[in-house]
Amino acid sequence: MSGRIETLADGVLAGDRRSLARALTLVESERDVDRNAARELVERLQAGSGPARRIGITGPPGAGKSTLIEQLGLRFVEAGKRVCVLAVDPTSSRTGGSILGDKTRMAELARKVGVFIRPSPTGDGSGALGARTREALDVLGSGPFDYLVLETAGSGQADTDVAGMVDVLVLVLAPGGGDELQGMKRGIRELADLIVVNKADGDTRQLARSTASDYARSVPAAGRDAVVSCSALEGTGLDELAGRIADLADSAPDRQAAESTPDRDASGAIGRLNHVALATADVEKATAFYRDVLGAKVSEPKPLPEHGVTTVFVRLPNTALELLEPLGEKSPIGGFLKRATSGGMHHICCEVDDILAARDRVREQGVRILGDGEPSIGAHGLPVLFLHPKDCFGVLIELEERASVESGE
Ligand code: CO
Repeated sequence: MSGRIETLADGVLAGDRRSLARALTLVESERDVDRNAARELVERLQAGSGPARRIGITGPPGAGKSTLIEQLGLRFVEAGKRVCVLAVDPTSSRTGGSILGDKTRMAELARKVGVFIRPSPTGDGSGALGARTREALDVLGSGPFDYLVLETAGSGQADTDVAGMVDVLVLVLAPGGGDELQGMKRGIRELADLIVVNKADGDTRQLARSTASDYARSVPAAGRDAVVSCSALEGTGLDELAGRIADLADSAPDRQAAESTPDRDASGAIGRLNHVALATADVEKATAFYRDVLGAKVSEPKPLPEHGVTTVFVRLPNTALELLEPLGEKSPIGGFLKRATSGGMHHICCEVDDILAARDRVREQGVRILGDGEPSIGAHGLPVLFLHPKDCFGVLIELEERASVESGE
């Protein structure tokens, strides 16, 4: 690993604009020497990928995708989210760069703190996407963003490949244009989470509404409320649309975990560090410390009466901290806090592929399992076991069975 790539990767992880821009130029380059460096960079970044949810905005030219993205982006920022936009542009083959400079695009959004916008050339890739769009997404997805918005090129052929790269897919259409939807690659309608008829304003207000109802009639009943109309120009329907997209993005399964998990290992060996649990008598204060003093992203507190704790997750790029406050009379961390009154590290949790194989493995080595030795369902809804700290050099080790991943994304 060269030092230059390491520095660049650190800059990307920190969300430094110049590093992000440089990293994208590197992955978009077709020069051999850059290809090697780009691979090195992507590899390095995958080890600590960020939590950004990916939102794909696709649709034919003239549907007003850029204006819509800017308006949605402003609303995400307003809601405290960090946003980045990768806009795939038709390229000039002579210069190899994007025709539209990022200065003219989404000017208002671009001025917001924490926002990064970047046009990306289509290169020799298929119509809607660039040859290196996936890598560019991986790079940006490692940055400290909540939402990564991918705008596809308005090629008229909304590429179904986009669906495999994003958590939420939004198809944007102009009013009228009934033929457009027919002409699109089959499947895009089924793949889209939302179909948005834009330009419900001025002369096309009525047409947009009737187009939306036409589309709604053409999809199965269950999907009808997934067709909406709005006006990116006037701002009508945008708050609701931004909220729906955010909900879909936030509830999408963790893509990083799904992508980087190898085949199941039956040896019972421990895998990735899932979390480090920290006990505290005051989860509110501890949360404020991680959020405000250390600058980490934190979840809302979640009371888990059946586990006797209230938890808050501190999301770090490569793992999580789990803050635990006792809840109820018989909290499993009550005794711990009597000894360590100011709180402290309570346990570490490692993932295993097969919890029973893992149990049998450590038992054979003489490690005791707490409780009756049968896995219970832990705070994440997955089977867990705890190993006796006296047999683990003083550390309480939680083993959690890795979530099964639905194949075929
Ligand atoms: Co735990």
